[in-house]
Amino acid sequence: MDKKFKRTTVTAALPYANGPVHIGHLAGVYVPADIYVRYLRLKGRDVIFVGGSDEHGVPVTIRARKEGITVQEVVDRYHYLIKDSFEKFGISFDVYSRTTSDTHHKLASDFFRKLYDEGKFVEQVTEQFYDEATGHFLTDRNIRGECPRCHAPEAYGDQCEKCGATLSPEELINPYNAETGNPLVKRETKHWYLPLDKDQQWLEQWILQEHKEWRSNVYGQCKSWLDGGLRPRAVTRDLDWGIPVPVEGADGKVLYVWFDAPIGYISNTKELCDSNPALGSWETWWKDPETRLVHFIGKDNIVFHCIVFPAMLKAHGDYILPDNVPSNEFLNLEGNKISTSKNYAVWLNEYLVELPNRQDELRYVLTANAPETKDNDFTWADFQARCNNELVAVYGNFVNRALQLTQKYYAGVVPACGALTDYDRETLAEFDGVKEKLEQLLEGFKFREAQKEAMNLARIGNKYIADCEPWKVIKTDPERVKTIIYISLQLTANLAIAFEPFLPFSSQRLREMLAMESFSWEQLGQTNLLAMGKQLATPSLLFSKIEDDIIAAQIQKLEDTIKANEEAAYKAAPVKEDVSFEDFEKLDIRVGLVKACEKIKKSKKLLKFTLDDGSGQDRTILSGIAQWYEPEQLVGKRVLFIANFEPRKMMGEESQGMILSAVNYNGDLSVTTTLGDVKPGSQVG
Ligand code: 2FM
Ligand code: ZN
Repeated sequence: MDKKFKRTTVTAALPYANGPVHIGHLAGVYVPADIYVRYLRLKGRDVIFVGGSDEHGVPVTIRARKEGITVQEVVDRYHYLIKDSFEKFGISFDVYSRTTSDTHHKLASDFFRKLYDEGKFVEQVTEQFYDEATGHFLTDRNIRGECPRCHAPEAYGDQCEKCGATLSPEELINPYNAETGNPLVKRETKHWYLPLDKDQQWLEQWILQEHKEWRSNVYGQCKSWLDGGLRPRAVTRDLDWGIPVPVEGADGKVLYVWFDAPIGYISNTKELCDSNPALGSWETWWKDPETRLVHFIGKDNIVFHCIVFPAMLKAHGDYILPDNVPSNEFLNLEGNKISTSKNYAVWLNEYLVELPNRQDELRYVLTANAPETKDNDFTWADFQARCNNELVAVYGNFVNRALQLTQKYYAGVVPACGALTDYDRETLAEFDGVKEKLEQLLEGFKFREAQKEAMNLARIGNKYIADCEPWKVIKTDPERVKTIIYISLQLTANLAIAFEPFLPFSSQRLREMLAMESFSWEQLGQTNLLAMGKQLATPSLLFSKIEDDIIAAQIQKLEDTIKANEEAAYKAAPVKEDVSFEDFEKLDIRVGLVKACEKIKKSKKLLKFTLDDGSGQDRTILSGIAQWYEPEQLVGKRVLFIANFEPRKMMGEESQGMILSAVNYNGDLSVTTTLGDVKPGSQVG
């Protein structure tokens, strides 16, 4: 870290209190932020870690209407649920508050009022979308319509989830009220705008020239916003949930959620400092140029944290600006987008119940597979493999061997170290540069690589003990075994320190087993962390294997959700144009008895039917339903077929008609049959 800074304020995006938090949140924002903060604390740096729930805005109001409860009930329910999940995953916030707090309402309101009084806003009357049936102006998030870029039919007024484009509602084709489906009209309303166009120049200088070190995804997104030219942005909304706009003539208007939410970082710092005098004034953490401000966010938050919030802070005048904004890309789940509204996610509160005491396992996998530079995919198979092959088989195995052998040979007392062999020296040398290497990676926000380095140490340890085979050597050279165990224990103590930022729960357990009362980052790389003669505690396994049935149940749960969503989204196709009876009669639909049915070689789709069609002669029909039926299932069944469908050749066989199938909502085919026992050849009509 740059010498000019004395302390660090770390913020993690305030999640909307409109649902529980899921693995995407954890991987994208909270685990990386927590790793960073734990590391700084271990280094003995002055740091505060600020979080909280974002309780305003449209998402919480939508949830309330969906569930038929008040917005206050929604935010209460999810705020506490989210807070609890974070605590249980070891996300070590110094404060986790909420934007409905009095402190926040006052601070955000004062912030707005100061800018207003100083003439920093532009007042503008514009036409906004209005739903005449409900009597409400609609916010961007509540408006849907066709995306002007990729033509997805249900883009939001602020963003298209399909192509990721940032939009304004005016750009949508055929906008409608997302909840009621009502078409929208335009109506005049007054709002206050932050004239970002006036900030263009200094933002370009500050980001594009002075912060070239920001992650390329962050820098790139900022550049594209700046290259496109900044425009004034409204910071108020017509809504009945939020912080009232504190000026005359603003009835029914509240601060835009993206205006008040980032101020929440400041309000929460104030709450923290007010109740912890040792931290000094909250202003030191936000206004002293010797404070370093770092925002951890997801990629959909980049523009607000790199452009809008800095412009607000600068307009206010007294604040520092972020020194870095490490943003991750998105995490997908089993190849699909995670979605709160579609309930497609691994929810942290459910994980805690279904995979109890395995928080470090999830932290580990989410960091190993973190979407630091590109979107990544979480799969349960990868989760299982990483847990079993890395945490259990490498880290856990090494630690367990070292500790169990200490118990067995020396009653849990650290033995004396004898003369070192070349191999001992080589192994210890591998630990030499590890502190600097980890520091470089962690301070460069490369958590994925950093964790890999830590795991590498475990690999070295695991290899060392496997190569040295103390369980064999004990029979021939017991003195040598003391040295092997001594070295293994020192490596183990190093692992407890190196893994602390990543896997806090297992690190703590390991330290307890090693009776390490105090420890610091500075000790990393030292090879005398456990004094000879020290009594260790009784060891237990650090990690246990994840069995197949647990993984299968999780995969099944996701598949069930997909199915439920597809069923819920299914709408019957519109009825086709009317046909006359004469036209209908042209189709000769009949009942056929399936005498034989077989697969067609070289075709994955087709089944060949031999039907008794009542004529006394067999009829052959090919039908593309092989994916859904085993041929034997269909033999003896009565099916409906079009007898006068033009004969066609497929895969070298002539098909004399068409068997009727229903197409299910998901495209699956289901062969039609009769309820009664009808003679083959009977006509349907
Ligand atoms: O995207 C979100 O979930 C927002 N609630 C993040 C807000 S971050 C900050 F500004 F508070
Ligand atoms: Zn789109």
